[in-house]
Amino acid sequence: MSKCYYITTAIDYVNGEPHVGHAYEKVIADVIARGRRSLGSEVFFLTGLDEHGQKVQQAALAQGKSPQGYCDELSAGWKALAAKLELTINDFVRTTESRHKEVVQAILKKLNAAGHFYKAGYKGFYSTKEETFLTEKDRLPDGSFPASYGEVTELLEENYYFKLKDQQTWLIDYIEKHPEFIQPDNRRNEVLGFLKNNELEDLCITRPANRLNWGIPIPFDPEFVTYVWFDALVNYVSIPGAHGDTAVTGALQTRGAAGEVKELWPADVHVIGKDIVKFHAVYWPIMLKAIGLPQPKQILAHGWWQKDGEKLSKTTGNVVDPIAVINEWGLDAFRFYVVRELAIGPDGNWTDAGFESRYTSELANGLGNLVNRSLSMLKRYRNGIVPERSDELAADAAKAVAETRGHLEANELQAALVSIWSLVNRGNQYVEQTAPFKLAKDPAQAKRLDEVLYNLAETCRVLAVLLWPFLPGTTGKIYAQLGLSGEPNNFSKATWGGLTAGHTIGEPAPLFPRKDKPPKA
Ligand code: MSP
Repeated sequence: MSKCYYITTAIDYVNGEPHVGHAYEKVIADVIARGRRSLGSEVFFLTGLDEHGQKVQQAALAQGKSPQGYCDELSAGWKALAAKLELTINDFVRTTESRHKEVVQAILKKLNAAGHFYKAGYKGFYSTKEETFLTEKDRLPDGSFPASYGEVTELLEENYYFKLKDQQTWLIDYIEKHPEFIQPDNRRNEVLGFLKNNELEDLCITRPANRLNWGIPIPFDPEFVTYVWFDALVNYVSIPGAHGDTAVTGALQTRGAAGEVKELWPADVHVIGKDIVKFHAVYWPIMLKAIGLPQPKQILAHGWWQKDGEKLSKTTGNVVDPIAVINEWGLDAFRFYVVRELAIGPDGNWTDAGFESRYTSELANGLGNLVNRSLSMLKRYRNGIVPERSDELAADAAKAVAETRGHLEANELQAALVSIWSLVNRGNQYVEQTAPFKLAKDPAQAKRLDEVLYNLAETCRVLAVLLWPFLPGTTGKIYAQLGLSGEPNNFSKATWGGLTAGHTIGEPAPLFPRKDKPPKA
């Protein structure tokens, strides 16, 4: 058994509104997961839901529901989104599952026994909305707290704290020695700047059960439940533990589930948003070191989406509903836009005009047109039978293949699409330059027409393989139209020359129908 390439996403708050930001994160993780599989790795892709905490408890109560019943209902919607996005996930974690809770409790026990925690009283100003105590730094110049914190009340409470003070030096050292650990570099520099200029405060890891009972009970003190972030981060190892990963079961003495044992930890990449870098790049590494587990290889922080230059907000109606977009334009159009528009790192701005423009110019007039005219001409002029091999575009294809491989290995998804589109554009330019529709009128040019048609059909085949991680539905259609069976899901098939003379292609059909003409049923 060899170690899987293990990729995770943030687990979404179950009571949140699924929007383009959540969908974006899951799509980039899915493209990475598919890309790695295509390149030959066994991959384990995990996503899921963060279901504990005060807000969930309050919302459930307000609707007269039990927190568990409320979470069960909402989780169905999130699972439906994962299915709609055709995520190739290997598991879906919910933090209210017993397989997760057991691991959280085992970690709490272990860290408590090792002396990492202490109990202390704290008096301070608490934001229910953000589930956090605020500090003096959070106050506005007039002494009040920003409205974004909601109602702020003064509380005195006892809690357990995780000692972080002695952890700063090794963490700085670790981040400096492992430049790939936090990516992109600007996020890494932010974390280093934070760690070098601030003394880490001990982390409060409990909430009194009388204030919040929708959480995982602390195994050594029934009056407390676990702080949601301590609970949520653990999903990255609780699920490997549940799959019998010996790294986890060995460190925690937990039992794995029956069934095939997976070797998962350490994660190869945690894909998360820029707002939660501190939890993943400061608290999580410290927790892992205390547990006795190795660090994940990479924390990859993506930017945030806005729409029309404004923050996404349900209250103002400034939202992009991924399901509505997919229903109107198709899944691959959604996947393409979010990955092509934005490198992993900077913030993005969704505009409907930008979406439509990429759909029309790059998908319909670019890829769609190349495939449709290439295959239609092969059908019309050669009865759909592939002519002798010709290598005129082989070097262009090889260049796109090499670049795409490099970008996929570096998780540079936008750059991969740019490289792939250089081949799409070369294909369309080749049609203009060679004018097969003119060659077809001259019987003396039959050999030349054969060459052109082979180069075009083979370019479409290579493109299907390169694009499979990004546009799985479309590339499956390209394969079917080429008369090839199976999915173009193996990168090694991108080598030039895969189409053999005499092979008969299938039926060409437009891949990205124009929006003014509704697609045929
Ligand atoms: N539950 C925590 C994560 C725990 S991970 C152990 C949480 N949930 S969340 O629902 O608020 O966010 C889930 C992910 O969606 C985060 O990575 C967050 O950055 C991302 N996004 C939320 N809004 C976003 C945008 N507008 N744009 C892009 N991603 C965004 O945080």
